[in-house]
Amino acid sequence: MSYKEKLDIGKIPAHVAIIMDGNGRWAAERGLERTEGHRAGVAAVRKTVEAAVKLGIKYITLYTFSTENWRRPASEIKALMQLLMDNIGDKIFMDNNVRLRVIGDMSRLPLPVSIAIRALISKTENNNGTCVVLALSYSSRQEITQTVKDIVLKVKSGLIAAEDITEDLISRNLSTNFMPDPELLIRTSGEQRISNYLLWQISYSELYFTPVYWPDFNEEELCHAIYDFQNRERRFGKTSKQIAENK
Ligand code: IPE
Ligand code: IPE
Ligand code: MG
Repeated sequence: MSYKEKLDIGKIPAHVAIIMDGNGRWAAERGLERTEGHRAGVAAVRKTVEAAVKLGIKYITLYTFSTENWRRPASEIKALMQLLMDNIGDKIFMDNNVRLRVIGDMSRLPLPVSIAIRALISKTENNNGTCVVLALSYSSRQEITQTVKDIVLKVKSGLIAAEDITEDLISRNLSTNFMPDPELLIRTSGEQRISNYLLWQISYSELYFTPVYWPDFNEEELCHAIYDFQNRERRFGKTSKQIAENK
């Protein structure tokens, strides 16, 4: 039986975050350039988004390019930006009622890329199916630093008092304030680290690491991760007994 068939459709996570890793190694294993791995990675994004739509996942947050990835060779960055450019007009969004959002420092992207992305964000604004969130030029520490600055300014200007600062207020000032925290975080390629992704938001996420390289990720792999998630006990500090008794 496939994982897809085993899933409890009533318990699909509302927000799945994915660290899409392993494009380079996928390519190297085939004697290909790293860029070919990224190209195959785009195909996996398409398959995964379509699967998320079918499963009714409300938010899927894809780590697409980190702040640290700006340290890569210029030629690889250029190829990645070109791939973004070539795929951002993709009709997958309109055909599937998918909304696009971006988190990260878009000002660092090449202008044509940010213009194309902004256009697609506006075009898909009223789509109310799955929301695909691209983390682009994103790092969590940078996001949190910006949020601290924003909150300090609000306090200084008298808009809020220091006593008003709560966990909820911090969440509401992060760039992810339009969605719930991810219930599930998936990382492909066998690496078991977070790489500066959604540090605040994943405080109670279930983590799922798979050795599968990103270009080989697909609907069944997504269902496998969700199946695994569905069979975990999320205790949030309580005991198993309390959870069983719903207390
Ligand atoms: C993930 O694949 C894509 C990006 C980070 C842009 P990698 O390019 O990191 O692939 P590996 O980790 O070198 O295999
Ligand atoms: C994390 O992958 C960033 C993305 C998937 C976009 P990396 O491949 O850049 O992460 P590290 O450097 O191995 O931690
Ligand atoms: Mg990597």
